[in-house]
Amino acid sequence: MKLFLDTAEIDEIEFAVSLGVVDGVTTNPSLIKQAVEKRRGLVDMEDYIIDILKVTPGPVSLEVISISYEKMVEEAITLYERFKKYGHPVIKIPVCSSLDGVNNVYDGLKTIRELSNRGIPINATLVMSPEQALLAAKAGAAYVSPFAGRIDDYLRDRLGMKRGIDYQKSDYYDFNLMKNIEDKLIDSVISLKDLNDLREVYMDDEVKRATSLLNDKGLHSGVELVRSIVTIFKNYGLKSEIIASSIRNARQVREMAEIGVDIATIPFYVLKEMLIHHKTIEGINDFVKDVVEPYKRIFQYR
Ligand code: E4P
Repeated sequence: MKLFLDTAEIDEIEFAVSLGVVDGVTTNPSLIKQAVEKRRGLVDMEDYIIDILKVTPGPVSLEVISISYEKMVEEAITLYERFKKYGHPVIKIPVCSSLDGVNNVYDGLKTIRELSNRGIPINATLVMSPEQALLAAKAGAAYVSPFAGRIDDYLRDRLGMKRGIDYQKSDYYDFNLMKNIEDKLIDSVISLKDLNDLREVYMDDEVKRATSLLNDKGLHSGVELVRSIVTIFKNYGLKSEIIASSIRNARQVREMAEIGVDIATIPFYVLKEMLIHHKTIEGINDFVKDVVEPYKRIFQYR
């Protein structure tokens, strides 16, 4: 599995690249905003992006800022033409750029199609369902980015949990636990129904609530979203690479790797979390304490 860094922070990129573990970078307008604010607005954006491209050994995703087909095509060409000589820019286009689910519904897909036909590599972003991923791949996207963490957030929201109060952004979402609870909940609701009238049971509001509460159209987590997309792309030999995105902790990275996803894009803090283990720290403390003089002398004489 390739690892991308999900950041617009040049120091983080340089450091992670120097470790040899980073294959690319993904940015978005919010990450660029953070990098600019950190420098109190005193940043030449063009030079800054050039620096990111120069230090990154692989693709760097840069996102458009408009939502209409015409504007997104124009912006994507600007980004690609301006930066392609410095590295491997990939242009992020929202799979659906509608602000209200009514207008601009097809603009994202049309843009992906148009730019891919022109040979510009596209990362279809804000993918929240396997259906969207399938459409983006068919439209020609080089990459599709399912946002795993945001699906976990959505499921926690539905349970009434509040981020920052009931859970932190980086907390693992225990979807196996929730799946077990779902099974038990459905069993207990159904056990109270008259099983001689299955039509009534199927249409019962309590049954409907129990079967839909803990999942998003059958998906119990961001990990399941990515697993479904990996399966669909394998089934049909779709060529787009899948970037597991919106990753918030190391355990998600492991689960993405088990699924066999092509790429995971991770924030810098997740890289550290992947490396640290309390038993490794305990072990290194013991080893350091146990170094004896005769062994030390081997290193002194050289
Ligand atoms: C991916 O390309 C996005 O930049 C990113 O993963 C979004 O993550 P977030 O949901 O933590 O903001």
